[in-house]
Amino acid sequence: MCGIVGYAGPKDCVDILLDTLSKLEYRGYDSAGIAVFDDGDIKVVKHQGKLAYLIELLKKEGRPRGNVGIGHTRWATHGEPSDINSHPQSGKRVSIVHNGIIENYAQIKEFLIDKGYTFESQTDTETVAKLLDYYYDGDDPLNTVSRALRDIRGSYALGIIFKDYPDKIYAVRKDSPLIVGVGKGENYIASDMTALLEYTRQYILLEENEIAAISAGTISIRNIYGDPVDKQVLTADWDADAAQKGGYEHFMLKEIHEQPTAIKTTIMPRVSDGMVDFSECGLDDKKLSSYKNIYIVACGTAMHAGVVGKYVIEQLARTKVIVDMASEFRYRNPLIEKGDLVILISQSGETADTKEALNISKRLGADTLALVNVKGSSIARDADMVMYTHAGPEISVASTKAFTVQISMMYMFAFKLAYAKGLIDTDTYKDYVAKLIGIPDKIEAALDESYVSQAQHAASNVTAAQSLLYIGRGFDYALSMEGSLKLKEISYIHSEAYAAGELKHGPIALISQDTPVIAVATQRSLYEKTLSNIKEVKARGAKVILICSDGFAVKDDEADYVVRTPDYDEFLMPIIASVPLQLIAYYTSVLKGIDVDKPRNLAKSVTVE
Ligand code: M6R
Repeated sequence: MCGIVGYAGPKDCVDILLDTLSKLEYRGYDSAGIAVFDDGDIKVVKHQGKLAYLIELLKKEGRPRGNVGIGHTRWATHGEPSDINSHPQSGKRVSIVHNGIIENYAQIKEFLIDKGYTFESQTDTETVAKLLDYYYDGDDPLNTVSRALRDIRGSYALGIIFKDYPDKIYAVRKDSPLIVGVGKGENYIASDMTALLEYTRQYILLEENEIAAISAGTISIRNIYGDPVDKQVLTADWDADAAQKGGYEHFMLKEIHEQPTAIKTTIMPRVSDGMVDFSECGLDDKKLSSYKNIYIVACGTAMHAGVVGKYVIEQLARTKVIVDMASEFRYRNPLIEKGDLVILISQSGETADTKEALNISKRLGADTLALVNVKGSSIARDADMVMYTHAGPEISVASTKAFTVQISMMYMFAFKLAYAKGLIDTDTYKDYVAKLIGIPDKIEAALDESYVSQAQHAASNVTAAQSLLYIGRGFDYALSMEGSLKLKEISYIHSEAYAAGELKHGPIALISQDTPVIAVATQRSLYEKTLSNIKEVKARGAKVILICSDGFAVKDDEADYVVRTPDYDEFLMPIIASVPLQLIAYYTSVLKGIDVDKPRNLAKSVTVE
């Protein structure tokens, strides 16, 4: 949710803090701030709003000079976005940056007020800064940090500096990500590796409640009892360009265009002799076919990938699949047991609800499989089995390439399971895999040819709408949900997705000439049915944008605008047809002048409940 960085080395740390913060702004952009050791003191500068305002302020009022400091970009939880609530938050001898939520901050605050402390912000973070101050006795700050941690309940990643230790940064995490970047004569902390790719690719993953102390030339990591912990230095395999816009106006557009490569990179290493190979996580045919039920648990776009997965797996492999929103799953006492498989899908691997769903599933005795994009993330580490999607860093808040690689993996899973259960023969199996392999080229060609202009045209037809509906049947209903989420999060236009057959049971009352309808119809077997629903909404004045395959006949009075997808095996169409839905949302956002990559109120990685 929030982004944390820290630098200790020989260079001017303000430049590095601002640059690395710019890479983390997708995690939150309500305010930004830095704290730097300058001439024997800690100098804090912070400002409400995007990082650009902080940069302006530093230009106007002068910047601190120093080689060690911490920085923060905020997604507000406790306290509105304001200068005062921005991080760093400070006590007399300590400044901190924080990602997460301190659940018992009110009690801690009360305790500290009793001890004579005063508070100026509404944040939970300030209580941690003052608590550290309270426990600090001038001795080793590590003791102070571990003492304070015993009082704190909740989730946190913390970057901490103590006035008396001007060469050091302390870092600790629980339920929120934080890594230590390992440089040559300089070291870093960061919420995630994308911030540091230009500086180093070596990093150390901090485990829960390990406390790191870094300076330019040293890194020491201890557990909460003060014992040293040996850590492995890992190497990131994403290159620095992957986290740049590379000539595109927005990350979202770049990431949409990266989908053919992302899909290839994800599926090809898992194809062997024309069949699916999941040996990387020990999921062989025997084990796979032994599961009674499959649960897919995730949030947002990842959950929609699960819905596509349900349709695909149930249709082809005839195993029951239950899809759950992680935020509901965790509180509904799910009927999971030994012998079930729970698949957790997450781009970031840090989503708080999905993480808790994983914990619950493990406690209930199910096998857990994480389908995750970020290597070494919490969900990837905690699940029994992990399969990585290889989409590269996804920076834009709106998830695009993560979705198409997730659904590609759902297909691989279904093919393998169907074969393992003896439901398809070898030729059919290989034919499906070959068709999946053919998809990236289809998307690539469509992106080069007509997808962009068609989506721009469609977007110009919805920009003025206050509200619109997405409709579809089967796979197309799953895609409608994702299209609708994408549109609402980056264009601020209200939209809902309905199963087309459900319209008559209520939602059709919403239709008027001011409510455009985006109808998704990629399944030939359901096309006639969806056309009937389209007629019903048109009869009530709605303008219809129809997304359908190239070969489908559409009469003039059946749609106001038609977006054509390439013709392909309809069973695999969801991967191909996701792309125009993403592009329509993107161009609507652009036409409305919205900051596409950083839509209001959102953050990329939701590490708090
Ligand atoms: O990192 P995750 O895949 O776990 O994130 C899940 C959702 O927060 C995410 O997909 C969100 O819905 C996106 N903003 C959608 O574009």
